[in-house]
Amino acid sequence: MSVFSNCLVSRREVLRAGTALAVTTLMLKPSPSFATPASEYRISPGRARAALKGENGPATGVWAYDGRIPGPELRLRQGVPARIVVENRLEEDTTVHWHGIRLPNAMDGVPGLTQPPIKPGESFVYEFTPPDAGTFWYHPHADSLQQLGRGLAGALIVEEADPVPVDRDLLWVLTDWRLDADAQIAPGFGNRMEAAMSGRVGNTVTLNGTVPGTQGVRAGERVRLRLVNTSLARIMALRFDGHRPVVVATDGQPCDPHEPDGGRLLLGPAMRIDLIIDMQGDPGSRHAVVDDFYDELAYELTTFAYADDAPLRKNPLDAPFRLPANPLPQPDLGDAERLDLALQGGMMSGMGGNMMGGGMMQGMGGMTHGRATWSINGTSMTGDGHAGMPPLMTLAQGRSQLVTMRNETAWWHPMHLHGFSFRVLKRNGAAVPHSLWADTVLLAPRDTVELAFVADNPGDWMLHCHITDHQTAGLMTVLRVGDAKDKT
Ligand code: C2O
Ligand code: CU
Repeated sequence: MSVFSNCLVSRREVLRAGTALAVTTLMLKPSPSFATPASEYRISPGRARAALKGENGPATGVWAYDGRIPGPELRLRQGVPARIVVENRLEEDTTVHWHGIRLPNAMDGVPGLTQPPIKPGESFVYEFTPPDAGTFWYHPHADSLQQLGRGLAGALIVEEADPVPVDRDLLWVLTDWRLDADAQIAPGFGNRMEAAMSGRVGNTVTLNGTVPGTQGVRAGERVRLRLVNTSLARIMALRFDGHRPVVVATDGQPCDPHEPDGGRLLLGPAMRIDLIIDMQGDPGSRHAVVDDFYDELAYELTTFAYADDAPLRKNPLDAPFRLPANPLPQPDLGDAERLDLALQGGMMSGMGGNMMGGGMMQGMGGMTHGRATWSINGTSMTGDGHAGMPPLMTLAQGRSQLVTMRNETAWWHPMHLHGFSFRVLKRNGAAVPHSLWADTVLLAPRDTVELAFVADNPGDWMLHCHITDHQTAGLMTVLRVGDAKDKT
């Protein structure tokens, strides 16, 4: 494919892209998908080496699913039962959490809370039927700082029965790493100073497992771009120079198609955004994709590199942007239980967290001692969650819940609730437009958000910050839905 021959993409991507373009130029068929959906998978976390710095760079020792960074892209079908066998080839316990999927509590992958940990050499079979189509991901929920920070993460795509028509369906798994001079993963996970600040923000961002080169595109094509941030701590704010991406889903859930405020997309750890982009640049042109979340550390994530070929079509594809709705229960705000959650703790730097964890720590004293640096309503669950921690609250099964979450800290927090997607209703008193749903909501320092969901799924569900250092240092709790489980 001459279109992509000038681009730094892997052979597999070239093949995929080539196939897709061949299909679409001939038939203009909607949404080709590359990995075929299946209902059975087997994945094995273990040690591996990965070319994070590119084929010519030094290989990095990582922990990976099936030896791949990111882990294999799992594609499931909406409403079709899935069976995923996880075989632990690590030297320590693990589990897998299917982030954002509304599934039975016993399949949620929290060791000690929803299942026994998977011991080295042992397997666990996850079985669930994904009710929602969308962009999700999977990662361990044991020794989270190391297991996620050393590379265990992958995308989980649930395909719509009837997808919106696009020429290509692209996936960018974005991952931040802290590498040393030899391109090896730097030690020092769980640094308490960092845990009280912005967490372990690294120095190298990979796109689908390698430092990004360019993304080949063709003038006139319509692309669905699925963004997944699997970083331990790095928040991203992406801008697409010369393009007008339209957000069609957040955390896998369809929203009213809209252009982001100021063209800037905020993507905290664990968050996903589905975009539709009409490639309106000129053949042969190049356009930067920039991440400028941390004030002085803007960098070019990648570049759209247009092929020289004539535009695929003259005018943008005349087809709808709106994704088919998922079967989410609509909360009834007139009959809702109210829940107030206050996020507390951390270093009161007043710097808003909008700075790097690494560079500015020296000389900042006043760190609190002990493991719990953060808390939710005055309680701190630490580590990866443990059996026996009482739930913070019990919610009536089937009732609508109206949640007010206040960030009383000086830091950003992407707050994730297991087992549910929630409506994001208000931020700092103002209605949030575009009918947004999420499973991870990003709070700026001092933000207050209002969320709502129906507590229709019984069990003990984690609620925690997805900046992993914050989670393991106390910004975590459990909400129980329904009667106390009898854990026999
Ligand atoms: Cu993706 Cu408990 O997390
Ligand atoms: Cu946090």
